[in-house]
Amino acid sequence: MNEAEIQRARRETRGIKTCIHFNNAGSSLISAPVADYLYGFLREEEIKGGYETASLREMELENFYIRVAELINARPEEIAFVENATRAWDMIFYSIPLKAGDQIITVRSEYGSNVIAYLHRAKLAGAELVIVENNEHGEPDTNQLKKLINEKTKLISISHIPTGGGLVNPAKKIGEIANEHEIPFLLDACQSVGQMLVDVNEIGCDFLSATGRKFLRGPRGTGFLYVKQKWIERLDPPLIDQFAANLIDEKTYLLRKDARKFENWERYFAGQATLGKAIEYAMDFGVSKIQKRIFKIADTLRKELRDISEVEITDQGLVQCGIVTFRHAKINAKVIKSELARKQINVSVSSGSGSRLSFMERRIDSVVRASLHYYNTEEELEHFLSELKQLAS
Ligand SMILES: Cc1ncc(COP(=O)(O)O)c(C=O)c1O
Repeated sequence: MNEAEIQRARRETRGIKTCIHFNNAGSSLISAPVADYLYGFLREEEIKGGYETASLREMELENFYIRVAELINARPEEIAFVENATRAWDMIFYSIPLKAGDQIITVRSEYGSNVIAYLHRAKLAGAELVIVENNEHGEPDTNQLKKLINEKTKLISISHIPTGGGLVNPAKKIGEIANEHEIPFLLDACQSVGQMLVDVNEIGCDFLSATGRKFLRGPRGTGFLYVKQKWIERLDPPLIDQFAANLIDEKTYLLRKDARKFENWERYFAGQATLGKAIEYAMDFGVSKIQKRIFKIADTLRKELRDISEVEITDQGLVQCGIVTFRHAKINAKVIKSELARKQINVSVSSGSGSRLSFMERRIDSVVRASLHYYNTEEELEHFLSELKQLAS
C-alpha cells in the first residue's frame, strides 16, 4: 500500500484517534464507511421493521455471498453465513461421519476450541486424534503427516494461523497431501482471511471457516463457511431448521442444495450485509497489498522487539504474519497489557485453552499478542516500543 492509501485508511478509521489498536486478531477497528452502513441498516430496521428491511435490502444480503466467494475464489452457492468462525467450523466438523477406530489428524498449533471438539467426537465415536509435530522451524512436519495417513484417516483439519502466534501454517502443502490421499481437508481460516490472500482452490481445502470481526474489519457476530460443491449434498448438517430444509409432509423434509443448508433461519441480517461491505472495502485496497503491508510492519516490530533486553519473541514458522507475540522475562503478560491499556494502547494476552497444545510443549504460560493491521503506522510502533521500554526499565 502506498502512503496515500494508508492515509485514506486512517482517515476512514475513527478509532485511531483515541487508541493505538494492536488487537486486530481480537477484533479490528471497523472502518467508518462500513460502520455507517451498519448503523443505517439498523436504523432502517428500527423505523421500518426487521423483516421489511430484509426484504427491501435483499440484494445487499445476496451481495454477502458474492463478495465472500470473490474473496476466497469460490462460488456463491458454496458459501453460508454463520454467526462466528467456531460455529461455522462446527457445522462441518460435526457433519463428517466418524466411527470407532477412525482418525482425525491435526497440528500442534491447533486452536483450543477445535481440539476440544476433536476430543469430544473422539470420545463419542471411539475415534482417535493424531497430532503432527512441528519441524525445526516450528511448523508442522509434512513428512510426518504423510507417514501418519492411513485408511483410517477421515479428516485433516488445521488452523491456517494459530490464535497465539505469528505462524502461518503451510496450508497449501497440507492441502496437496490431503488431496493426493483423497482425505477431506478442513481449514480454519479465522485469522488469515482479510490479512493475507486465501484462495480455496490454490490451497486445495474442502471446507473453510472464518470470522468477520478480525482482519476483515466486519462487525462482531458474523462469520462464514465455505463448502466445496462436491461435499454440499454429501454432508448432513448436525442441526437443521426450516431454512436449511423444506418440510414436505409428516415423514419428509428436503434439504437445500446449496451451502446455505448450514445456516440458521434467524440471523444477524445487518451484520451479514455489512460483512459483504467490509469485504468490498478490503478488496478496494487489494488483499495482496494489505498482506504486504501487514507482514512488513509486523517484521519491523519483531526486529525492534528483539533489541529490547529480556524480551523473547515467541512466533514460530518460516512465514510469519501480522500477529507478533512476545514475553518478558520479568514482567507478566497481563501486567504489560494492562499498563499499555492505561496509555490507550490495545494489545491482548494469549494464554489458556486457545494455544494449549503448543504452549504446553514450549512451556509457555502466556504471551503478549500485538496484532497489526494495514492502518497501523510506524509511528504507532515507535510509540508502543517506547512505552514498553519505559515499563521494562
Ligand atoms: C484460529 C482460530 N480459530 C477460531 C477462532 C474462533 O473464532 P470465533 O470467535 O469467531 O468463533 C479463533 C478466535 O480467536 C481463532 O484464533
